[in-house]
Amino acid sequence: MQVNLLEHWWIGPVEIPTRVVLAPMAGVSVQAFRRQGRRFGAGLVCSEMVSCAGIEHRNERTLGYLRVARDEHPLAIQIFGSEPAVMAEAARMVEAAGADLVDVNFGCPVRKVTKAGAGATLLEDPLLAQAIVAAVSAAVSVPVSVKMRRGLENGSCTCLELGPRLVEAGAASLTIHPRSAKQMYTGEADHRLTAELVGRVDVPVVASGDITSHAKARAVLASTGAAAVMVGRAAQGNPWAVAEIVDGDGAEPSREEVVAELLLFVRETVRELGERRATGFLKKFYGWYLGHGRFPKPFKNELLQLATVEEVELRLLAAAPGAADLLERLEDEHAPEDELLLEGLPISAYGGG
Ligand SMILES: Cc1cc2nc3c(=O)[nH]c(=O)nc-3n(C[C@H](O)[C@H](O)[C@H](O)COP(=O)(O)O)c2cc1C
Repeated sequence: MQVNLLEHWWIGPVEIPTRVVLAPMAGVSVQAFRRQGRRFGAGLVCSEMVSCAGIEHRNERTLGYLRVARDEHPLAIQIFGSEPAVMAEAARMVEAAGADLVDVNFGCPVRKVTKAGAGATLLEDPLLAQAIVAAVSAAVSVPVSVKMRRGLENGSCTCLELGPRLVEAGAASLTIHPRSAKQMYTGEADHRLTAELVGRVDVPVVASGDITSHAKARAVLASTGAAAVMVGRAAQGNPWAVAEIVDGDGAEPSREEVVAELLLFVRETVRELGERRATGFLKKFYGWYLGHGRFPKPFKNELLQLATVEEVELRLLAAAPGAADLLERLEDEHAPEDELLLEGLPISAYGGG
């Protein structure tokens, strides 16, 4: 089967312009990451998982995750939790914040989440999982999608039984990361399960796991019949990988382009999280951006030693002076504009305090 990643597709009434979805990643999928992903060709972007309990208690940091920019649509905001009524209320807030889709997390394998009965644990509790999807679907008018793993234990195929039941409960799309929760990120994603799931449901299925190139994306779409692929780790600090996956154009960025994109990301993240939080948050991104043989390792280590974001910026511009013009152009063309649909978001959510 021939597949074109530049084709559009639909989840319910939501049109998605390409067959590449940027994965939700806790500690990564900030607004700057999502906007950048859209710019490089992702058809749909997703927030990191947001705690429904945090939304219920109007936790300031949690509400910050509901900030939506005009140019990131279509956008899914992902919620996690274990109580249908609380999840439904969180979904209403997500819709009010301007998300085009509410995504429900039945895949997180991290103990802090599973021990509270949320994330991947719900794969083993089909009645509760169905009740959550039914409550969330009834609470909002936007489509509801579910992201799940294959099951809890290695070799488990729980997703194949659960998937159709979730669709019956109201899910308009399913994303499958076919590793077990126990596997975390080891081994390989077994997309034979993705193909089986596609055969069992009549909603679009998104294939997540180990999509690192245009060739792999095409192969997975062709062998599974999935509607789209999701890209996670390959996109970390590497929007050029997203572009390559979408259209097969694998041109390596120049050093100036790398520094300009990194600095735009730094500035937007400071604006989003505030300088104090952003300083630590950004450290992992330096290695991600500057790796791939783009800059020598000692240079990355040097950046990690710097105490302030301002020093990082000066050092990067000294290493690639031509980046300053590119950065200015990017900032002019892509100035962020928040939608501000939700009343009462904490002030720090808008400008870092
Ligand atoms: C750092 C990190 C954080 C993640 N956080 C989330 C999350 O918040 N919600 C979720 O559904 N999946 C999360 N995932 C899983 C990814 O969305 C994706 O399914 C997984 O990484 C496999 O895709 P990949 O091989 O393209 O990375 C996370 C993965 C990573 C690496």
